[in-house]
Amino acid sequence: MPRVRVPELMDEPNLAADAHRQALAGLARINALTRSANLLWPTIRDLANEKLTVLDIATGSGDIPLQLWKRAKRCALPLAISGCDISATAIETARAKASVAGANIDTFLHDVLRDPLPTDYDVVTCSLFLHHLDPPDVVELLRKMMLAAKTMVIVTDLVRSRTSYSLVWIASHLLSRSRIVRFDGPVSVRAAYTIREMQQMAAEAGMTGAIVENCFPCRMRLCWGKS
Ligand SMILES: C[S@@+](CC[C@H](N)C(=O)[O-])C[C@H]1O[C@@H](n2cnc3c(N)ncnc32)[C@H](O)[C@@H]1O
Repeated sequence: MPRVRVPELMDEPNLAADAHRQALAGLARINALTRSANLLWPTIRDLANEKLTVLDIATGSGDIPLQLWKRAKRCALPLAISGCDISATAIETARAKASVAGANIDTFLHDVLRDPLPTDYDVVTCSLFLHHLDPPDVVELLRKMMLAAKTMVIVTDLVRSRTSYSLVWIASHLLSRSRIVRFDGPVSVRAAYTIREMQQMAAEAGMTGAIVENCFPCRMRLCWGKS
């Protein structure tokens, strides 16, 4: 399946806040049902014997940080989690969700393409964002994440394939009424990368020893640790 990148509706700068919030809620529902946080949690849990700081970039409604916070609380692990996003609506939504859950999650506005990443974090994570970017920008962002993370970079994203396309089309239509989710879901798969393409971009970014693997359902995970 050739890669085709069509601008996603969620990236429109003038998106109405209500429609944006509805789309973020739909995406959070899909993340919850597909247990997206589980792609990050085992690695983070294993690192969190001592206090661990985590930054989730392009965090959207912050549902992945919130899921990590809940798991860390259950296991009494000392995790300090932050999330950043370019969108004020996303950050407001993330703050509101964290506040309702009583979660101590720091959220802030940040354009991860334009600005350097803060270097105060042990682990830097990124979910469902790299497919928004063309390869040179992916390589540049991976380099920034490597520079920023003291210990580890973990990236998860969709895998481009016909099967992923069909499953994501069905999930986005069954699990959300948002026209944004229904449009962006399948479009995201067309723009996503294959495992081999991600391995090549990781190598170009200088991520020696990075592991890129298929994960159920329709996803991949890239893990790179600082030696
Ligand atoms: C598909 S959503 C993914 C949200 C979340 N990470 C998840 O896994 O559900 C992509 C997010 O990237 C954010 N984004 C787009 N461009 C960005 C940039 N330059 N800097 C930071 N965030 C950005 C969008 O606002 C949106 O919230």
